[in-house]
Amino acid sequence: MKVFHIVGARPNFMKVAPVLNALRAHKHVVQTLVHTGQHYDTTMSGVFFEQLGIPDPDVNLAVGPGSHAKQTAEIMMRIEPVVLEAKPDIVLVYGDVNSTVAAALVCSKLGVRVGHVEAGLRSFDRVMPEEINRLVTDQLSDVLFTPSEDGDINLQREGIPAARIFRVGNVMIDSLVKLLPVAQGHIRNGLPDRFALVTLHRPINVDDSATLRSILQSLLKVSRDLAVVFPAHPRTRQRIAEFGLEFGLTTDRLRFLDPLPYIEFLALQSRAQVVITDSGGIQEETTYLGVPCLTLRENTERPVTVSLGTNVLVGRDPEKLRAELALVLAGKQKKGTIPPQWDGHAGERIAQVLAGEPESAVAHAKAGRSR
Ligand code: UD1
Repeated sequence: MKVFHIVGARPNFMKVAPVLNALRAHKHVVQTLVHTGQHYDTTMSGVFFEQLGIPDPDVNLAVGPGSHAKQTAEIMMRIEPVVLEAKPDIVLVYGDVNSTVAAALVCSKLGVRVGHVEAGLRSFDRVMPEEINRLVTDQLSDVLFTPSEDGDINLQREGIPAARIFRVGNVMIDSLVKLLPVAQGHIRNGLPDRFALVTLHRPINVDDSATLRSILQSLLKVSRDLAVVFPAHPRTRQRIAEFGLEFGLTTDRLRFLDPLPYIEFLALQSRAQVVITDSGGIQEETTYLGVPCLTLRENTERPVTVSLGTNVLVGRDPEKLRAELALVLAGKQKKGTIPPQWDGHAGERIAQVLAGEPESAVAHAKAGRSR
């Protein structure tokens, strides 16, 4: 059985690692890893392969940056001949990035089965490019692996038969569970003892000059009460420079860093007093770690992080951010629990379904449903 994995951007790498690993136990499965090259810097890609123990890609499409249309189209054009030649039995796509939807479109038209890992998440906000990618990818997928019950509900509402949906839990948490002990032994010199960890890269927050300026001003205010450590995404760096917002930004209390490798970032997350972010995956990781997360978005495609976890949506309201931060500083932050099946074994459940042993995976899913 030939399984293709398509990855391209930073949040894909921690999701593919556990599935690749779990499928190795099934000797009749031959795996091929395709990197589209959507993210190409060492800091955004190479170092993640190294730390997560992902083998070098068998194929690198080297598409690089571009508008959504250009990037998606480049991936589609470059992936089609590879799939035609190798004739995989199933192609696995991960998350919600442009590489995900591009590969799903190509493969479904070639009649190759598509499996979507992290299916069913919905923010119900089509301004987000990722929401478009999720909707299209799920409609085109033959097998849908969901991380939580809301995913199953969303997919069935959109007409996807229950028989194609497998609730397997959260693969991203598999990588976290595996590498947390390593991260906890990692101490970064020169950082304050108590700090807020910040990440920011959503187009809606960073692509408009007035919005970005207002968020940065809020962060400067936060830094008066709690030091801020901010590993900045390349998109955010570019926009800060483009809009001329660097002046006065780096202070003793607000430190910009380059994007961090997985283990170093996990180490900071686990030690932070609070995380302030607009990322999807970080809402989940903080929920697992029990670290308060203040999300600079009006909605989330990961509602379980709010209903069960430590996540609070503060939107772009500086007052709400300040009020929630005050609760954290007073030790009155929201307490959360870990959602069902976020247990480090999601990759194994996916492998069981793919390798033709879905009974045990389905049993897991049913157990999850009755909780
Ligand atoms: C992409 C994903 C987003 C994900 C994010 C995580 C889509 C639609 N978006 O957004 O879902 O949360 O990745 O990082 O697929 N750049 C570099 N070096 C790199 C990669 C990117 O400098 O290694 C630059 C690009 O040239 C571009 C900018 O960063 O100017 C944004 O990259 P892009 O791939 O367009 O999307 P992200 O904002 O990273």
